[in-house]
Amino acid sequence: MNELSKYYDKVLMTEEEIKKMVARLGAEITRDYAGKKLFLICVLKGGFVFMADLVRAIDLPLEVDFIAVSSYGSSTKTSGVVRLLKDIDKPLNDKHVLIVEDIMDSGLTLNYIKSMFVNRNPLSVKVCTAFDKPERRKVDITPDYVGAVIPDEFVIGYGLDYDGILRNLPDLCILKRDIYEK
Ligand code: IMP
Ligand code: MG
Repeated sequence: MNELSKYYDKVLMTEEEIKKMVARLGAEITRDYAGKKLFLICVLKGGFVFMADLVRAIDLPLEVDFIAVSSYGSSTKTSGVVRLLKDIDKPLNDKHVLIVEDIMDSGLTLNYIKSMFVNRNPLSVKVCTAFDKPERRKVDITPDYVGAVIPDEFVIGYGLDYDGILRNLPDLCILKRDIYEK
């Protein structure tokens, strides 16, 4: 990924470290949901890389679906306004829902999504996030599964974008400040 190296100075987590992190989460989820009907709902677009890896680390029969919510646009700060762009296809009454998200920052997005699913009365709703920046939380929400707690920096790669690009970086990297502080 030589062409993309100009966008970051620092690798926060390597592909190898992320692989271990996903294996650990998969094992935990496999243990916790044994014998249950697991339904993973990925938050697009950022969650797609993590979701693809996570499902293959879970040793249970499971179903998947995808939702899409409005994103930051070109800014690196949240607007606080969440808009549902794509919903799931099925009712949730007999399901144990696990929401799969790339990163939790203010928590506003997850808070909105979680309450939306809770209102549909599934058997349970939990949250799994690959990365968490708990220092930046604006609402009281704690993810049930966290891959890694990271510092308050804008990160890219492993599904996470800046201005729509850089999701394909295999490592999690810190975006160069001069790229967004112009
Ligand atoms: P929250 O609503 O502030 O928790 O923001 C969650 C969403 O913001 C995530 O799903 C990401 O799409 C985006 N986001 C937050 N922090 C970062 C980051 O460091 N890099 C890329 N996207 C981010
Ligand atoms: Mg996202």
